[in-house]
Amino acid sequence: MGMPRDNDNVYNEATRNLLEKAYLEADDPRGGSGFRGDEARWERARRPLTSAIDRDGTLLDVGCANGLLMESLAIWTGEGGFRIEPYGLDLIPSLAALARKRLPHWADRIFVGNVMEWSPPSRFDFVCTNPEYVPRGRRPDMIERLLNDYLVPGGRLILCSYGSSRRTEPKAEPVSEILRHWGYEVAGESEAAGTNGVVITRVAWTDFRET
Ligand SMILES: C[S@@+](CC[C@H](N)C(=O)[O-])C[C@H]1O[C@@H](n2cnc3c(N)ncnc32)[C@H](O)[C@@H]1O
Repeated sequence: MGMPRDNDNVYNEATRNLLEKAYLEADDPRGGSGFRGDEARWERARRPLTSAIDRDGTLLDVGCANGLLMESLAIWTGEGGFRIEPYGLDLIPSLAALARKRLPHWADRIFVGNVMEWSPPSRFDFVCTNPEYVPRGRRPDMIERLLNDYLVPGGRLILCSYGSSRRTEPKAEPVSEILRHWGYEVAGESEAAGTNGVVITRVAWTDFRET
């Protein structure tokens, strides 16, 4: 991948302006990962990611914020009998610093960088990400980059989208349709709904097959 486009820098600056203060000043660890709701709601909204994890391995959370998802996935997959070793990457240095402070035992696994520029020190068995981390036109490039540069052969890319169950707020994107539309074979998918039945999380995954 070449130099970042100017558009990426503008987009990333907007992300930073939108998230940094709110995440750093949140009253609870979920707020530090951009989530509104109690622990039960967090689990309901994020547990669907564990359906993609079918073996032991390393996992990179792209956009790790304060590291809560890294922590939660390690616990939940452990309950299911798989041991994952979580790593994190975040665009915003202060959030990566917060994650390192919260998770000192994983401090050397939490990196600062833009998913479109960063080069991982080693490849991962699982990588999870969300489409909105890059401008719309760059999303297929992000998936391609994660598959080719971040994953081990046979590794799994997990694409997530989160929405709100409130009718006026954005909905989770149809990530399995998006992957298929971009030409990827979907190896599996999962979702979660809020108490009113509205889908709040969609997750779909595809495996990296070297050609
Ligand atoms: C909503 S939080 C996600 C927290 C957690 N991964 C989860 O799924 O609940 C989104 C995080 O992605 C980070 N982020 C956004 N764009 C990014 C990019 N291009 N590269 C790396 N991190 C990015 C933001 O700084 C923010 O901390």
